Amino acid sequence: MKAQSLIDQLELPVVAAPMFLISGPQLVIECCKNGIVGTFPALNQRSSEGFEEWLIEIKSSLKQWEEETGKKAAPFGVNLIVHGSNPRLEADLRLCVKHQVPLIITSLGAVSEVVNAVHSYGGLVFHDVIKKRHAQKAAQAGVDGLILVCAGAGGHAGTLNPMPFVREVKEFYDGAILLSGAMSSGQDVASAMQMGADLAYMGTRFINTHESKATDEYREMIIQSGASDIVYTAAISGVHANFLGLVYKLQVLLKNNLRQLPKLILEKKWILRQKPGKLFGVQDKDLQLLRILYQLVNL
Ligand SMILES: Cc1cc2nc3c(=O)[nH]c(=O)nc-3n(C[C@H](O)[C@H](O)[C@H](O)COP(=O)(O)O)c2cc1C
Repeated sequence: MKAQSLIDQLELPVVAAPMFLISGPQLVIECCKNGIVGTFPALNQRSSEGFEEWLIEIKSSLKQWEEETGKKAAPFGVNLIVHGSNPRLEADLRLCVKHQVPLIITSLGAVSEVVNAVHSYGGLVFHDVIKKRHAQKAAQAGVDGLILVCAGAGGHAGTLNPMPFVREVKEFYDGAILLSGAMSSGQDVASAMQMGADLAYMGTRFINTHESKATDEYREMIIQSGASDIVYTAAISGVHANFLGLVYKLQVLLKNNLRQLPKLILEKKWILRQKPGKLFGVQDKDLQLLRILYQLVNL
């Protein structure tokens, strides 16, 4: 398969990005039925056996849906961490080959062995990068698409502004370009296309869906958060990443211990912001994925 043929199968130029502890079969299946790429990290299952069960569940649900409706589901994808610290890589890759997973999203390492294994059955490899140097290495490894993880993207992300980054990568790379980083509305998706991306790669926007595995607290945090609540730090995992929850957690902590706080702090309303942020424009905790896709088309 060529990246363009994947893009051509979509109703919206959107990939629901893989999210640790958030994305599972339900979200993936719903995405694919509704014309966007659904993905999940293989490591969201505790074992390779569990991972294979999810692959079987996704494939059989989509096949049954296709037979019932006569429609074609969008391709789905799996995220593999290509790094020595992932002891399951070999076993999980073997399962992806066995089940012919249409799209593999690689993180950390872009290696031609993985690319060749996926190409052997006609699958595609998209690789996420935060720097031009990483993009060049991945291009040399033969990946079919590059995911430019720009400033503000949830999880491990870079700090680059998307505009020059897209332009620089397009100078040497003619595969698919996916753009990532705090995109939330249809306008954001359209802007990504305008900049030269082929697909928008969105994670956080899909956390408050009925189909995600997010906790209630996390969903509430998404509603409350604004742009300045994104904290870029290496303090949590040793690698720089964007976290949304830090400021919010502090707020909850302070709210819960309100009586114990010194009067001075309360009077100054220190840290307890009164107005919810508007970063994601999300007002609902538990929307059907389909409703969010309608919003993307209309906003
Ligand atoms: C809660 C959460 C968990 C994530 N887990 C993973 C992961 O396991 N693997 C991965 O490649 N990216 C992961 N990401 C990054 C997303 O795939 C994607 O790059 C990011 O969500 C895009 O930015 P956005 O959230 O601002 O839309 C995660 C992001 C979030 C928000």
